[in-house]
Amino acid sequence: MARKHLLGLLALTAWANSAISADQAPASGNYQVQFPDVSKIQDQAVEVQVPKGLPLLTPNAVVPASNPLTAGKIELGKQLYFDPRVSANGTVSCATCHNPEKGWADGQKLTIGIGGAVNGRNSPTVLNSVYSKNLFWDGRAASLEAQSQGPPQAATEMGKQTHEQIIDRLNTIPGYKAQFAKVFGTDVTLDGFAKAIASFERTALSGNSPYDKYATGDFKSLNESAKRGMILFGLRLDQEDEYQPENVTLKKANCTSCHLGTNFSDDQFHNLGVGADKEGKLADLGRWAAEAIGAKNTASIGAFKTPTVRDVTRTAPYMHDGSEATLEAVVEYYNKGGNANPYLSKDIKPLNLTDQEKKDLVEFMKALDGELIPVALPKLPAGPDGVSPDPRAALEVPTAPKAASLISNPHALIKGE
Ligand code: HEC
Ligand code: HEC
Repeated sequence: MARKHLLGLLALTAWANSAISADQAPASGNYQVQFPDVSKIQDQAVEVQVPKGLPLLTPNAVVPASNPLTAGKIELGKQLYFDPRVSANGTVSCATCHNPEKGWADGQKLTIGIGGAVNGRNSPTVLNSVYSKNLFWDGRAASLEAQSQGPPQAATEMGKQTHEQIIDRLNTIPGYKAQFAKVFGTDVTLDGFAKAIASFERTALSGNSPYDKYATGDFKSLNESAKRGMILFGLRLDQEDEYQPENVTLKKANCTSCHLGTNFSDDQFHNLGVGADKEGKLADLGRWAAEAIGAKNTASIGAFKTPTVRDVTRTAPYMHDGSEATLEAVVEYYNKGGNANPYLSKDIKPLNLTDQEKKDLVEFMKALDGELIPVALPKLPAGPDGVSPDPRAALEVPTAPKAASLISNPHALIKGE
């Protein structure tokens, strides 16, 4: 048995060492990954400039060693991100639910996918997701590369389809085939798809907000209400700032227990009681459901990832279930100490905030809106029918009848439907 195993390994090594081209590589699993033909690669490493207040996108740390940022990859990822042909009927793109014009979210309470299907959770922003260690509200994906493979296969997001079907479809688009060759030295593969989209997402950054300007010495960028809100939130004003209000209690609202650091998130999971009914029964088990059997923590029941509060005015409604319509409502929710349930975080307690203090907190959060970085829509490569779809069509919220009429001949796009 051991001997047989060793032989297999030797054979594999020999095969990998021989200068085998991508076309000769075994067909099985070819859509997932291929050996690159490096002679085809023409791409350039780039350094993405980060707005004020954000950490650098350090290679091999913030950006994984397996997927360095390159110009061609970011451009390709942008096209894929906006391309409705990734979905099963050619109507939904990533941007449908993470639209740069809507704070990279969708403005819906619960996200709406293919054919008008309503999902169980609110769409989080993609902004600054490069800094998150765990993706999704329950943290079930460990990287942007892993995350990007989920929605295309989700029946209620981009449709019921296999990865192989998606990659086969993209391989019929000559512009994608050519770009994958240049960027990865392969045909379209799932590995390249994930890497390109993740690279584009790493450029979606929110910084240089009034708060960031304050932090670098421009004390006029925050008004007095925002400054009081900042203290209540849990952050000290600069000692050099002339405005030092006396009767404002540092950390009274306790927000920095969880919303801390440059991206205002501890990247941890907490139960705030969101979605709990009067009996304390939770509608969504959150992190607990994502933990492996044998590794379940009671504290993870109904716990969700702390989201960033950067750009938060642009991403209403709030919470994993979109249950809070405004920032004022979010503050009221914290002020009452959340919804009682057996697993409520010990850091969630009634805050006894005055009306002025509530306003000040909201004013501070408004000062976390970053400088808007406009995203020009990409021109999508023409399909085998010569038609290049308009990415704008997929920016509207999908509805059942409209979705069907968005493209003239949906079957031209769908292989094996
Ligand atoms: C139908 C709407 C919809 C579509 C289409 C969609 N998403 Fe999402 N996205 C969501 C929702 C809802 C969540 C949260 C789901 C959860 O936590 O279980 C999410 C989560 C994410 C996250 C995690 C953010 C974080 O901070 O944890 C990223 C990144 C993301 N999506 C990127 C993408 C990409 C890339 C695509 C296209 C390949 C895509 N999404 C397609 C709705 C959508
Ligand atoms: C115990 C940790 C914790 C504390 C303390 C905390 N938060 Fe949160 N915050 C979270 C988590 C976790 C969520 C998501 C909860 C959910 O959806 O179930 C959240 C969600 C939010 C959201 C919604 C963001 C979005 O995109 O949906 C805002 C706004 C917010 N918090 C602001 C605050 C403010 C203001 C304070 C202080 C008054 C505060 N938080 C205190 C952990 C915390």
